[in-house]
Amino acid sequence: MEFSLKHNSPESARGACQIISVGQGRKLSTSGSQVDKASKGFLTAVLKRGDMEGKLGQTLLLSSVPGLAVQRVLLVGCGKENEFNERGFTRVIGAITSTLATSGARDAEFYAGDIKLKGRDLAWKIRHAALTLANSEYQFGQMKSGKQERRKGLRKLGFNIAKADAAKARTAIDEATAISAGMSLARDLGNLPANVCTPSYLAKQARQLARDDKKIRLTVLDEADMKRLKMGSLLSVSAGSRQPAKLIALEYRGAAAREQPIALVGKGVTFDTGGISLKPGAAMDEMKFDMCGAASVLGTLKAISQLQLPINVVGIVPATENMPDGLATKPGDIVTSMSGQTIEILNTDAEGRLILCDALTYVGKFKPRSVIDIATLTGACIIALGKVPSAVLGNNRGLINDLVKCGERIEDKIWELPLWEEYQEQLNSNFADMANIGGREAGTITAACFLSRFAKDYKWAHLDIAGTAWKSGEAKGATGRPVPLLTQYILSQVKK
Ligand code: BES
Ligand code: MN
Ligand code: ZN
Repeated sequence: MEFSLKHNSPESARGACQIISVGQGRKLSTSGSQVDKASKGFLTAVLKRGDMEGKLGQTLLLSSVPGLAVQRVLLVGCGKENEFNERGFTRVIGAITSTLATSGARDAEFYAGDIKLKGRDLAWKIRHAALTLANSEYQFGQMKSGKQERRKGLRKLGFNIAKADAAKARTAIDEATAISAGMSLARDLGNLPANVCTPSYLAKQARQLARDDKKIRLTVLDEADMKRLKMGSLLSVSAGSRQPAKLIALEYRGAAAREQPIALVGKGVTFDTGGISLKPGAAMDEMKFDMCGAASVLGTLKAISQLQLPINVVGIVPATENMPDGLATKPGDIVTSMSGQTIEILNTDAEGRLILCDALTYVGKFKPRSVIDIATLTGACIIALGKVPSAVLGNNRGLINDLVKCGERIEDKIWELPLWEEYQEQLNSNFADMANIGGREAGTITAACFLSRFAKDYKWAHLDIAGTAWKSGEAKGATGRPVPLLTQYILSQVKK
């Protein structure tokens, strides 16, 4: 999708389409009234006929309206003004996309300033509209043999705003475009099957990011490196796999070397069979998405690289498969992590924490100002919170609050679960420093408890994205979350 800025008066619009919002009770927006006047009351006449109430998400596409140069006018309902919220705004954008998807209009002009949304300024509306529209274009066709059909529908959207708002609007469009590019990368990596998207493939994608931007430096550790660094926990997960594990480290340097980086650590299990604690067969294909944390790290780095943000960011991705095999780790095996702490692996399906703990120790060498790990870590998270927010837990109030705020700002929401000391004892082991599972209760929290033991040296937050990283069923596919949240957080840290 191409976005531009326009400053013409609504009644002088040209091109394929202009989008006019209508409130419940057939209330025309400011631009709508101007266009109505120019068309000698055509719009009010249509509304009076009862074809369009202005209900939220309702649309009516008019062609060749008398008195106007524009080819079409799309009326879109916004519902009751006092009930209108962020979800409503998203629905309006969705209604515009789906109506124009089947029309011949390739470009349209939109008056974002007409839509009143409490607490959200013009830049927010433009960014949110652009991001929603850009994401709606996403298609994953690279594994289909047939020629990809070129999609119909909107190609170009012009945001019609006052000249004085142009700079803000330009920034909003740039951010939306960058975040959408990052999400597309994350979605592609998530959607690719595990026989293509292996740990080595993730390393190759990271190399591409580093090639495209001089500010990015890449280091890929192989299993011999990991052995040297005593990453016994990470290596215990890859032990059963023919695909070699990789630990990918990307350093984006947008600020002075002395500035401490923000670190992102993403779980990169390219396929999770459960290992010897084998998963049941139903829906096991979806465990190709078990690297969506890793994908969100690469996607976020792509977004900040596209924006060339003046900040330092480190992205760490421990990447491996989790497979059963003659050499695979067995329940009851005890391993020593890079931190020196020993772990009794009571369930080989709790492998995410086993690779993350060594990555969390490793990331310490970058002296990060804060560390955020992102992982499809627990099925329990979906039971606790469903598929609306990601879960957040951590050891620093300020960091968690900042993340929650950023999630609200960019509509990529997270919800905090308590990381209280009382839960830690669920990880007690008779034979090692800790067990890798904490029983049936509070599974998302005990997983975070486990990670917290490796994240003591810095401000740390953990995002469990098991419910948000992909969709199941008919719309099965990666969502690109939480690239928006992570990018928003980094944006918020630039200004400080
Ligand atoms: N990748 C899974 C978590 C998961 C499962 C995410 C289903 C999304 C959907 C993770 O590695 C796992 O298997 N976790 C176990 C932990 C348990 C053994 C303590 C789980 O959630 O069942
Ligand atoms: Mn697992
Ligand atoms: Zn897993």
